[in-house]
Amino acid sequence: MCGIFAYCSYLQERDRKYITDVLTQGLSRLEYRGYDSAGIGIDGDEGEPFMLFKEVGKVAQLRKLISESKVDMTRSFVTQTSMAHTRWATHGQPSRGNCHPHRSDNKNEFIVVHNGIITNYKELKLVLEKRGYHFETETDTEAVAVLCKYVWDSQPTKRLTFTTLIKAVIKELEGSFAFLFKSVHFPSEIVLARRGSPLLIGVKTDKKLKVDFVDVEIAPDSDKLDLLNRETASMLSVPAASNSNIRRTQSRAFLSDDGMPQPIEFFIASDASAVVEHTKRVLYLEDDDIAHIADGELHIHRLRKDDGMSSVRAIETLEIELAEIMKGQFDHFMQKEIYEQPESVVNTMRGRVNFDTRTINLGGLKSYLNVIRRCRRICFIACGTSYHSCVATRAIFEELTEVPINVELASDFLDRRCPIFRDDVCVFVSQSGETADTILSMRYCLERGALCLGVVNTVGSTISRESHCGVHINAGPEIGVASTKAYTSQYIALIMMAVQFSDDRLSKQERRRSIIDGLHDLPSQISRVLKQDKALQQLARDTLAKEKSLLIMGRGYQFATCLEGALKIKEVAYCHCEGILAGELKHGPLALIDEHLPVILIMTQDSLYPKVQSALQQVKARKGQPIVICNDDDDGFSADDRLIRVPKTVDCLQGLVNIIPLQLLSYHLAVMNGVDVDFPRNLAKSVTTE
Ligand code: UD1
Ligand code: M6R
Repeated sequence: MCGIFAYCSYLQERDRKYITDVLTQGLSRLEYRGYDSAGIGIDGDEGEPFMLFKEVGKVAQLRKLISESKVDMTRSFVTQTSMAHTRWATHGQPSRGNCHPHRSDNKNEFIVVHNGIITNYKELKLVLEKRGYHFETETDTEAVAVLCKYVWDSQPTKRLTFTTLIKAVIKELEGSFAFLFKSVHFPSEIVLARRGSPLLIGVKTDKKLKVDFVDVEIAPDSDKLDLLNRETASMLSVPAASNSNIRRTQSRAFLSDDGMPQPIEFFIASDASAVVEHTKRVLYLEDDDIAHIADGELHIHRLRKDDGMSSVRAIETLEIELAEIMKGQFDHFMQKEIYEQPESVVNTMRGRVNFDTRTINLGGLKSYLNVIRRCRRICFIACGTSYHSCVATRAIFEELTEVPINVELASDFLDRRCPIFRDDVCVFVSQSGETADTILSMRYCLERGALCLGVVNTVGSTISRESHCGVHINAGPEIGVASTKAYTSQYIALIMMAVQFSDDRLSKQERRRSIIDGLHDLPSQISRVLKQDKALQQLARDTLAKEKSLLIMGRGYQFATCLEGALKIKEVAYCHCEGILAGELKHGPLALIDEHLPVILIMTQDSLYPKVQSALQQVKARKGQPIVICNDDDDGFSADDRLIRVPKTVDCLQGLVNIIPLQLLSYHLAVMNGVDVDFPRNLAKSVTTE
């Protein structure tokens, strides 16, 4: 996935240095979304309407390129629009050429930034090449830039509005996207479009807005531009500005009392973290919205009329603070986010767990409880770390609800086209709420009539909006690519769900109460584990730093901890690591064990303890020297054993404590291996492609 940012200022004098700083700062906030190359497109000088700066690597590289350029950075603009992009390559290598913004031609008539994938770009490219248009990159996005020019060129006599033109272009596209468009034909205007990839617009003005929403403007439907089948461009039937009624209603929010134009700024981004330092007033675009910013006003149109969508888009006030997305005293976001967990788990429980009455109330699920309790089975569907949080809580769901539970990896769920029925409840767990496989699985289940619940961190994300109901985990923005605090918060959100789903069962009351008491003590227990950070750093340096392969073993509730710990180590330390069920040891993996292979064994005290003890003996009998994660008061070890001690909690919550040392170990191994911890190679924070 990629990050999109744009800055539009109207009647505010801004010099080029200021504008490029705002753009690159916005990009660094979005860098977790993709970081193999970055680019910006800004207003140019005489004879050169737009200037593009593109560089391979991270945003810092782009900043360097801009600062070393000979461009006049003092030139100021009263009104301007500019756009920026940070890329995670899907079509074509990371290179300056493949970096956004993409242009329609060497005169930069149209420039475009894009997040998502255009699945029919090859067909479009073929048609456009046949008509004499040239391509200079390997990307899907370029086809869209060239298509803009084609539509423009095809209408030499009619004067299209920018919105009409982009509508015609969007109607030709298949796939998922968020786009920003600029054109020399529409100076100081920008058009945005989204389908499947998030886009929000921050609004900053000293004046109070008239109303806290923006009207969706209804225009006559234009014919689909049948680009692929038509022989001649002259047959195109795009309505021209002169006879269209595009601005049928006024955007009331931006009207001033005296009718005079007001200074205003707009900040457009893929997510709120890039906007919040400028303004907290934001509006989220819906799929198939086309937004147009011109003359200090924001207008929203629909791709097609009468599609049943709401006729306004609310301007909401964001609750996140800039401090939440800054690194502060920490070296990396991953480290900061690991350390935030005593607090983030409290935020997940805040207002939901009543420790006095020992009850749980998830506001987002309340009105659906009757349907949920009547369901035939519950399917959990997710990817990566989010999947592990489902594995971690499957047993407690089975125990408390006595309903069959399926836990599915979203990609495999889609591949198998799993049978789903109206009386299924499907739970989609996702930090970002934007993971393509998870979204597609959700849409598949929605089509089959199942009740779809989201468990997401990002308010306003696709899963949060398209699910019937759900729970926001409220962990705060997670920037590091490696998911840490989202895991513990997802885990707690799912535990809370299991408790709430079963609170009509008297027989489970004692169990529920013990879990709620356990949740109460959790933040301080996590803090206690974090205090061992120095010792864990030492352990990583002394015993694991040079290793090429590592096994993490456990069973029952700890299997998920093994999987999640192993994923962390692979992802940020670039060390092969496998999480295995200790019960499976003798069915194969035991063959690997000798005095050389490092093993971490999770042996905290629950009903399976004796069985894990036997796995420990099997490993030791083959000269293995495992590092054991065990409880504080477990005295069954000798002085030579290498131990990581953790506080004891209720069995189904123990994984929340046990994962902390593994997160810290992976972090230290990554630092020791010289990995760019927050941006491990080949990965992106959320994976918006299948
Ligand atoms: C909500 C408010 C919170 C407020 C609290 C007070 C939001 C985002 N949360 O929290 O600020 O303090 O009420 O009563 O406004 N939803 C989905 N899909 C998802 C996630 C959530 O449809 O994936 C829905 C829920 O069903 C609910 C709404 O979004 O209707 C808000 O969910 P959540 O934030 O979890 O609800 P509360 O904890 O009640
Ligand atoms: O945003 P999501 O939770 O849907 O993302 C799912 C996975 O891509 C994600 O958890 C990934 O595995 C993490 N980078 C692991 O740390």
